[in-house]
Amino acid sequence: MQSICLITGASSGLGRALALEYAAQGWKVLAVARNVERLADLVKSSVDANSQGQIVPISLDVTDSKAVDTYMQQIGALVPQLDLVLLNAGTCEYVDLPDWPLDAFNRTFALNFHAVAMMVPKLLPLLQQAKAPKLAIVSSLAHYFPFTRAEAYGASKAALSYFTDSLRVDLAGSGLQVTLIEPGFIDTPLTQANDFTMPFMLKADDAAKRIAKAIDGGALRFRFPKRLVFSLSLLNLLPYNLRQRVAAGMKQQ
Ligand SMILES: NC(=O)c1ccc[n+]([C@@H]2O[C@H](COP(=O)([O-])OP(=O)(O)OC[C@H]3O[C@@H](n4cnc5c(N)ncnc54)[C@H](OP(=O)(O)O)[C@@H]3O)[C@@H](O)[C@H]2O)c1
Repeated sequence: MQSICLITGASSGLGRALALEYAAQGWKVLAVARNVERLADLVKSSVDANSQGQIVPISLDVTDSKAVDTYMQQIGALVPQLDLVLLNAGTCEYVDLPDWPLDAFNRTFALNFHAVAMMVPKLLPLLQQAKAPKLAIVSSLAHYFPFTRAEAYGASKAALSYFTDSLRVDLAGSGLQVTLIEPGFIDTPLTQANDFTMPFMLKADDAAKRIAKAIDGGALRFRFPKRLVFSLSLLNLLPYNLRQRVAAGMKQQ
């Protein structure tokens, strides 16, 4: 029987690479994002690559709970089960004092956190129809260190990582694998907007392969690349005051 996954944020960057990776492995991929043209281009790329699986584009704003409800009914008619759900859609907005826009916090939390909390219970019934269901949530390494201008993004990912660990506790015994994904820098449209140095940057298709392997291997948490994880771990060994001074030193003058 063909394995089926649903991936949010599949029209671009990491989500697109994940959709192509799972399609190449023969999966049926329900690819969720808002942009219809980019989703069509994703389907074309998968066909051009002679993927064994197939990509089904689903144009949906995952922050819109009514629209998600409508699509869940349609997805239920489309597929009997979901073997894997990868909640990957996310955004990053850097904020500046003294007049930082509260809208930026609202937008960031709406997508990076609230949409995930809203979607999980709606997706559980279809996951529970699978023999060995897996839920993977894409957070970030960003919340391990107080990076400059990251008050909205870093806080949303700290909340998301905590949420995922707590969710795993409450789903213990249900048979659902819950994997927390915490990547470092990946070359995507999201990071292409950055004007600062991003160490140990990975290509999106490389990151997607690593993530698929970690999920397949049953990882509870997958933080990568190791070199960035190690560097952040060292910084976090510093005394609190010194750690804060190092973080302040990273600010652009
Ligand atoms: N790139 C990195 O270095 C990095 C590092 C750590 C973690 N991450 C995380 O990895 C995930 C993917 O990031 P990325 O770098 O691939 O970013 P990206 O290229 O900007 O892709 C974001 C995806 O989210 C979708 N999206 C945005 N708003 C949406 C909405 N309301 N409803 C449905 N889909 C929506 C976008 O599609 P549409 O615009 O078509 O809706 C797009 O497909 C994010 O959670 C990000 O925080 C990225």
